[in-house]
Amino acid sequence: MRNPVVTLRVVSLTLCLALQPLIAIKAQSANDLPDSDEFFQRNIRTGPERDNTRKIEDLLKRMTLEEKVGQMTQLAIGMVVNGRDQDVKIDPAKLDKAVVKYGVGSILNVSDQALTVDRWHEIIGEIQGAAKKTRLGIPVIYGIDSIHGANYVQGATLFPQEIGMAATFNPELMKRAAEITAIETRAAAMPWSFSPVLDLGRNPLWPRFWETFGEDPYLAKVMGVAFVRGLEGADVSSQSQVASSLKHYMGYSFPLTGRDRTPAWIPENYLREYFLPTFDAAVKAGARTIMVNSGEINGVPGHINHHVLTDILRNELGFKGFVVSDWEDIKKLVTTWRIAADEKEATRLAIMAGIDMSMVPNDYSFADHLLALVKEGAVPQSRIDEAVRRILRVKFELGLFEKPMPDASLKSKFALPEYRQVSLEAARESITLLKNANNILPLAKTTKVLVTGPTADSLVSMNNGWTYVWQGSEEGLYPKDRHTIRKAIEAKIGAGNVTFVQGTKITRAPGPSNSTPTDQEAEVDIPAAVRAAQNVDVIVLALGEGSYCETPGNITDLTIGEPQIKLAEALKATGKPIVLVLVEGRPRIINRIADNMNAIVMAYNPSNEGGTAIADVLFGDVNPSGKLPFTYPRTPNGLINYDHKPFETENTAFGNMAFNPQFKFGEGLSYTTFAYSDLRLGKQNEEWQVSVTVKNTGNRAGKEAVLVYVSDLVASISPPNKRLRRFAKINIEPGQSRTLTFKLRRDDLSFIGADNKPTVEPGEFEVRVGDLTQKFTLK
Ligand code: BGC
Repeated sequence: MRNPVVTLRVVSLTLCLALQPLIAIKAQSANDLPDSDEFFQRNIRTGPERDNTRKIEDLLKRMTLEEKVGQMTQLAIGMVVNGRDQDVKIDPAKLDKAVVKYGVGSILNVSDQALTVDRWHEIIGEIQGAAKKTRLGIPVIYGIDSIHGANYVQGATLFPQEIGMAATFNPELMKRAAEITAIETRAAAMPWSFSPVLDLGRNPLWPRFWETFGEDPYLAKVMGVAFVRGLEGADVSSQSQVASSLKHYMGYSFPLTGRDRTPAWIPENYLREYFLPTFDAAVKAGARTIMVNSGEINGVPGHINHHVLTDILRNELGFKGFVVSDWEDIKKLVTTWRIAADEKEATRLAIMAGIDMSMVPNDYSFADHLLALVKEGAVPQSRIDEAVRRILRVKFELGLFEKPMPDASLKSKFALPEYRQVSLEAARESITLLKNANNILPLAKTTKVLVTGPTADSLVSMNNGWTYVWQGSEEGLYPKDRHTIRKAIEAKIGAGNVTFVQGTKITRAPGPSNSTPTDQEAEVDIPAAVRAAQNVDVIVLALGEGSYCETPGNITDLTIGEPQIKLAEALKATGKPIVLVLVEGRPRIINRIADNMNAIVMAYNPSNEGGTAIADVLFGDVNPSGKLPFTYPRTPNGLINYDHKPFETENTAFGNMAFNPQFKFGEGLSYTTFAYSDLRLGKQNEEWQVSVTVKNTGNRAGKEAVLVYVSDLVASISPPNKRLRRFAKINIEPGQSRTLTFKLRRDDLSFIGADNKPTVEPGEFEVRVGDLTQKFTLK
């Protein structure tokens, strides 16, 4: 994709500065992005909304209690179809029960259905047809998890998973990917996506780590806003937009054990400091719906947390859309959390806490219980009206009443070649070069290469979960014409220069509890790989993970699989240089092999164009520009984020030097070099200008993500080492210097105090860009 032609805030201006004057150099290159703050400010402004109040109130007045409770019910597709996997067909009797008798407001897709656009039109067309025939003809809102593209739609364009999109540090690219996702989701007749994931990836054990934008709240907030604005656009009723669902509100990603859906202990000041900002920003960006944290915080399950769901979300953030539960989560209040003795009480607690729609999704218990609760007076009618108003509002805003099905012509906007180009560009910009000893990369195209490792010939690893099916594990559903790493390297340098030996494999087999299959590793032919290495110049060793999602992705050890370590060690013994390519959704520990690798390339889960993008980087057609959006731990117990407390890294009597990661947040090399100079600070009114000059000191053009950190040196809540406050990605020609100016506001100097409120305290602050620092005092 060509980046939009927006001139970076590289300015020629004379400012009256309190501290030091700014020197500015004019921008010379056109394909720059606005800095993160400009992008953010522009995208949190929502367009004018239509006022549907009169229509909503008219409808509400005519609805029976049963119809209202129906609107609050969401069922899985299995409740209206027969058959399995790709062979599902509407069952007229089931459809009648769900849509006519119970009047359900929503249906969602689940794990195993990846259908063509035409099939989705037929199925959803029948669902909307049934809804139209009901007394009030209220359309159904159909939803899917378009996590990295419209994944349950065959042939859809898929993008790098969020963790890779974060590594691009390019919110415009995220927005464009989300726009395409919206078009393709709506083209398949689905107006609602359960994305973006706005949980923070601060614990790499968590099996949904790759669904996040990494560990930093600011980066995740800017990328999250980009995702929301891409999905919802300026007018969500347009045929090319869908409603988003921010999830999983909030604190879901930080369980104590790292295992999915287990308890978290997060005090409110940290909840607000780290886990709330992404949701706050996305609500401001106009997001229509929110999905709730399936776990518990401080002993309170997300689904009954009135403080989080109502006090904070409604009263503080001013959220106007509707709140949907996660999967079976009202039932789990009884079976998992034991907070209610039976499902009826669980229903009351959840509704009164602020749940507007229940993803039941496999029976009619919710509707039956809720109806009884209202009749008994245990849930007031006003609470039902409030929830239904919110649901109807989103349906009106989506234009579903006028057009429950998209125009058939929208199908022609599905899977266009230019969308694939955007995915390729995103994969290229995400790839992060972590080590390049003696500049072994890029490789010459005449190099003889052994390609080996369990992720070298696998589109499944490249994509991970939410790909055609929930676990991403059905090889047969993947497109046949996309390159794995092996195929892409063969295409790039000729099959004659490439030997492929698998080495080890990752397959799926039933886990210890015989539940959903999980990844299992085994050696295949390590001796054959070693033999093949004798005849090549370089080994490209692709390691990492298979595919997994949610609870089946829980692991007991973050270390990369033993067979993979064995393969790497055996290959090292050959003395041939090794380029390690990591295809993984979370940072698996590689300390036993990392020092022996000549180069290390992090590819994350770059999706179907990832093979091509990796080959482009390895052979120098693309200069890498990704930066790590998380801290890559060196040891299984060394799980410390970049914004840890200063003493954790200090070599003093009481410092514990615990912070010693394999790779740091923000790390990422290029085939050129960048030098930072002239970090200057200026102040005007309540705004601080930070300017810095970045020079391309190498001999090829390169993109550089410039990251601006601020440290509060002394604070009443012990301050973190540093926090990311701005970034900008720029393109610099060899020998060229660019001066960037960022603006910081007072809230960039704030933290959440002991009273849970944003606090700014006078004192010394430090600004850090590249290897430069400057201090200033706030009076
Ligand atoms: C996940 C959600 C998802 C939902 C519907 C749940 O298990 O936690 O993220 O949106 O299923 O697929």
